[in-house]
Amino acid sequence: MGIRLDIDGLKNFVTEADINSLSPAVTKAHQDLHGKTGAGNDFVGWVDLPSRTPDALVSELESLAAEVRGHSQAIISIGIGGSYLGIRSSLEFLGGESSLPLYYAGHNMYTTDLARVVRLIEQKDVTVVVISKSGTTTEPALAFRVVDAAMRRKYGASGLKKRVICVTDEKRGALRQIANREGYRSYCIPDDVGGRFSVLTPVGLVPLALAGVDIRAMVNGFRAGEKEYAQADLAKNSCYRYAAIRNLLYRKGKVIEMMASFYPNMQYVAEWWKQLYGESEGKGGQGIFPASTILSTDLHSMGQMMQDGMRNIFETFVSVDKVADSVIVPSQADDIDSFNCVAGRDLEWVNQQAYKATASAHYEGGVPNMTIALERADAFNLGQLYYFFEKGVGISGYILGVNPFDQPGVEAYKKKMFALLGKK
Ligand code: PA5
Repeated sequence: MGIRLDIDGLKNFVTEADINSLSPAVTKAHQDLHGKTGAGNDFVGWVDLPSRTPDALVSELESLAAEVRGHSQAIISIGIGGSYLGIRSSLEFLGGESSLPLYYAGHNMYTTDLARVVRLIEQKDVTVVVISKSGTTTEPALAFRVVDAAMRRKYGASGLKKRVICVTDEKRGALRQIANREGYRSYCIPDDVGGRFSVLTPVGLVPLALAGVDIRAMVNGFRAGEKEYAQADLAKNSCYRYAAIRNLLYRKGKVIEMMASFYPNMQYVAEWWKQLYGESEGKGGQGIFPASTILSTDLHSMGQMMQDGMRNIFETFVSVDKVADSVIVPSQADDIDSFNCVAGRDLEWVNQQAYKATASAHYEGGVPNMTIALERADAFNLGQLYYFFEKGVGISGYILGVNPFDQPGVEAYKKKMFALLGKK
């Protein structure tokens, strides 16, 4: 079963007629994406990436993972943005599926974080995966300098070849030059797939395979997504309906999309989604601002704002039908806290009632909402969800009238920072 899109919480805000009115725009966006005739068409390689991903690559990475597990106790993954978020979101979403601990570096410039990673290298046998499409990004470049030096101190130059893996452009960039010069094992990021669309290229597949994630199931889910969301017909394509609906809500002044989930393992999927949607749509003074909450936790902090603050928000819940574990609430003889009403119930049932109550209360408070429901929180469903959101932002960005595949705005601070650093 695929991903379900439930739009009950949109009544009186968006009608089926409204959605249908966007059908010509969606058809045009679909044609532009598939025909590579839209803005940014050099970077739409992700559209058919799932069916172009060879099983041989998956098998190769599974063998690499077995080899690395033979000599390493931990993985260090260096990267930022699209070279970081998809890895973390996958591991956190899948929870217990990781068999080799994975640590992150190069996603900030916080000395304490990097010092911890250096101590880890001193204490454990590690393999490092350094990931950068451009090969020139400040944070991972500096982290790799520090990590590489610590690895050299421990293993010597000759020991590094089996412990450093580079994921970068096939030809360009400093990381490609370093990989070639040092003879490090390397994997290529396709030219036509931008950083935020790259989770199921070697960017995500290499570190996730090493960590023990079932990348085969994830790739299969990704492929299922490509098939499921290939049809141009808006009525039959829930991904296109999601793209159309968010544009309709935006036109009605709902300029913030709050991704909300009652499943805390969704936290980093939401971070990944924020980059995907924020970088793709926030241009030319336009764009839906992507934000996120984890519930019921954040109902105790953001709940007031959601219920009663400025009415410029819509909410997209992501739910999971079947959770892996079961915890039964015990009965208590005196029932001091009056919760015997749920004694004998699974905590997940209580969680679901909290979701229903929240969706209803927020709707009545003027926050329209929809729900993206996954069957379960496994690698297959995650692969499919990644494709759903990637296709969704491609269509949505074209409806909005922006180029969803560039990110000119991120250069402004870099120019100023490089001037301060004295970088050529
Ligand atoms: O989406 C993007 O292109 C960016 O967010 C990049 O992923 C991020 O800046 C990291 O870039 P790189 O992989 O080139 O180091």
